[in-house]
Amino acid sequence: MNKGTENKKEIQVSAEEIARQYQYMESIKEANAEYEIKSGRKRLVYLQSFGCQMNENDSERLWGMLSEMGYGEGKNSEESDMVIFNTCCVRENAEEKVYGHLGALKKQKVDNQEKIIAICGCMMQQGHVVETIKKKYRHVDIVFGTHNLYKFPELLNRAINSDSSVIDVDESPGSIAEGLPIERKDSIKAWVTVMYGCNNFCSYCIVPYVRGRERSRSTDDIVKEVQELGRNNFMEITLLGQNVNSYGKDFADRVSFADLLKEINSVEGIERIRFMTSHPKDLTEDIILAFRDLDKVCEHLHLPIQAGSSRILQDMNRKYSKEDYINLIGKIKEKVPGIALTTDIIVGYPGETEEDFEETLDVLRKVRFDFAYTFLYSRRTGTPAAKSADQVSEDVKKSRFEKLLEVQNKISKEINDTLLGRTEEVLVEGLSKNSIWNYTGRTRTNKIVNFKGSKELVGKLVKVKVTGTQTWSLEGEVISW
Ligand code: SAH
Ligand code: SF4
Ligand code: F3S
Repeated sequence: MNKGTENKKEIQVSAEEIARQYQYMESIKEANAEYEIKSGRKRLVYLQSFGCQMNENDSERLWGMLSEMGYGEGKNSEESDMVIFNTCCVRENAEEKVYGHLGALKKQKVDNQEKIIAICGCMMQQGHVVETIKKKYRHVDIVFGTHNLYKFPELLNRAINSDSSVIDVDESPGSIAEGLPIERKDSIKAWVTVMYGCNNFCSYCIVPYVRGRERSRSTDDIVKEVQELGRNNFMEITLLGQNVNSYGKDFADRVSFADLLKEINSVEGIERIRFMTSHPKDLTEDIILAFRDLDKVCEHLHLPIQAGSSRILQDMNRKYSKEDYINLIGKIKEKVPGIALTTDIIVGYPGETEEDFEETLDVLRKVRFDFAYTFLYSRRTGTPAAKSADQVSEDVKKSRFEKLLEVQNKISKEINDTLLGRTEEVLVEGLSKNSIWNYTGRTRTNKIVNFKGSKELVGKLVKVKVTGTQTWSLEGEVISW
């Protein structure tokens, strides 16, 4: 097979480089083992992710390296010997949170000079952020970005052996590093990144600037990872990419995302396949048919529309109109009846008028999404939309946001009500946060179901009859397993 390996040689981090990182891991591991013997405890790390699933998946890679080096998990920053923030910059509030947390660490560093503070992730790929860190947050020891995550052991080694901060942010269009260890936070569901970066440059979005150009992992590497998950009793995988529908476009021996789904559908042990995110301009018929024809591909599609007005969509550089989107949804619903649809919506994009906003509400009513993730437009330095003089006021954004939620919540509840009395296949995930319904899981359509259960059901597929509905979840009774 070995698909897509030829044209990737120059962006693939070499095996020698990865081996070098393993050497650094080995030497830190020895030092940590000595420390453990002397002090009677492991060195602890507190790692916090601030971003999307891809950011969390990166954190799982960091955990893989940390475990390999003999670190344990700390419950909070105070008790830990190292603190790592894996940051996000998609909206301003994500950045503010990081600065807030970093500020709070100053005192801990003064009290314990030995404590290592590292920050990485998307925020660090912006030059102005690194400058701010250098000037205002001098207690930070290590700064690295998304493209050189694989270099963490080397950077950590440098930081341990020097008094000055180690700053290393790779500004190339990005690379692919295979062969790094991983430690997953869940034992039933797993994320598998299939491609990195984004080429779409939606006018509001910072992601293409901080995640680099689109690059796909080879089908072989992905399938191997999924096979291993299958052998380790994982039941569900979610394939991740900023725009998974573009998978394989960068290969000389072209493979499509639908081809990848077919390969993965035949991996033993895995029962459910999900993927995100899809872009409406790239969602081809073969992917729609995968929902219908591949038994493990779950009937849920996350298809961000962002806005309902074609004028705004054009300004956003989304490359589809309101009508294109509605027609596409019609086609999907026709081929895959009962499919659950979710979306992302931005309110208050520069220049959005009341009429434009009404178009967004109109799409909600026409498409009838199961759920919508809604965001207030956030001005991101370096993106084209940030330069617009026509920014919408915060008050207007907020009132549109409220209105949107009101319309969407009603639809979500109405859709859930149609499921009353139906029997659904549920993958049991564990204890529910809600104490009355003590166990929780998800339907194939990704709806949360709470029910009375028992420990032995965790990680199993069970049949649950829906007995109650809420706006964002269902309640049910286990019928069989
Ligand atoms: N690649 C995915 C996810 C990108 S980030 C996609 O294309 O859908 C997740 C969501 O954050 C986006 O879908 C968008 O709705 C939102 N988002 C991105 N930039 C934003 C900004 N500047 N302000 C508010 N929301 C934004
Ligand atoms: Fe951002 Fe658009 Fe790329 Fe999604 S497709 S990551 S919204 S630029
Ligand atoms: Fe994800 Fe935030 Fe980066 S959404 S890709 S962690 S900017």
